Amino acid sequence: MSKVIAFVNQKGGVAKTTSCRTLAQIFSDRGYKCLLLDLDPQQTLSLSLGAVKNRFDEVTPSMYHVLRDEMSISDAIIHLDKFDIIRSDYRMYSYNGTPLISTEQAISLANDPVAMHRLVLDNLQKQQNASTDDRHKLQRKLAEIKNNYDFIIIDTNPDLGFLTTLSLLSSPETNVLIPAFAEDSSRESIIALNNTIQTILANDLSQKINILGIFISRYENNNLSKKYLTYLDKLAKSMNTSLFKAKIPKSIVVSEAMALKQSIYDLRKKGSILDEYQHFCDEVLERLQIRGYK
Ligand SMILES: Nc1ncnc2c1ncn2[C@@H]1O[C@H](COP(=O)(O)OP(=O)(O)OP(=O)(O)O)[C@@H](O)[C@H]1O
Ligand SMILES: [Mg+2]
Repeated sequence: MSKVIAFVNQKGGVAKTTSCRTLAQIFSDRGYKCLLLDLDPQQTLSLSLGAVKNRFDEVTPSMYHVLRDEMSISDAIIHLDKFDIIRSDYRMYSYNGTPLISTEQAISLANDPVAMHRLVLDNLQKQQNASTDDRHKLQRKLAEIKNNYDFIIIDTNPDLGFLTTLSLLSSPETNVLIPAFAEDSSRESIIALNNTIQTILANDLSQKINILGIFISRYENNNLSKKYLTYLDKLAKSMNTSLFKAKIPKSIVVSEAMALKQSIYDLRKKGSILDEYQHFCDEVLERLQIRGYK
């Protein structure tokens, strides 16, 4: 068994990274071998786990180097106590971005704007053709190491751009978890994400993307939240999925853990937020049709 799970929502700050890390910790405590993959150029996950020296670290092996074919994916794996991680890099946004025109070409064509324009268009066309193929590049890279893990858990950046497409296509069958707030602002981002997924599926009939479900993060138990729960439940059903029963409560423990550069899991072994994350993990395993402990 080897499953790829991506936390995706282009809305920022909905607890993708916090949940990704907590899921990996709980799964590894339950005996599963996990690899975390940080695809977010912000590097929040990599930084919080000490997998990068600093935000502008260009040296420590990363997914950026792997996607640019500068190193093999196995060489980019960093082994931590409980699980492994492949870190991100601040240059990830442009990992396949070669300039459309070199400095030398720009100088030599400075007096011939028509030729320069033609060259830029030619190169743009070449890059666009290449990037169609590159949509499966992460999938090809992960295939080399996938069987070494029970779970590969991907943290994505808050947009619906190329990196998110890579994560949705990271496996022939990708599982998607959508964290969301119980508020009106969640609606549009989830609809846009679902449209993106449906477009990918319509263009690639061999690809499978299972939306495992939407889960509520930073939940506050009040009437307004309850109203949006009902709404999100309907939205989830219209996407052929459902809301998770577990609702991750808003908790000061998350900020405390951040301040101490620890995970919520290291800070507290019990408490409502950890209990809910444990329930959430039970449900994830259930939805993947896997029994709870290895
Ligand atoms: N249950 C919670 N209770 C309180 N604060 C939380 C909770 N979960 C996450 N946070 C806080 O919310 C902020 C965003 O969390 P996180 O970085 O996990 O979101 P994200 O979706 O990964 O953000 P981004 O889109 O920027 O990558 C962080 O400051 C985090 O400490
Ligand atoms: Mg994040």
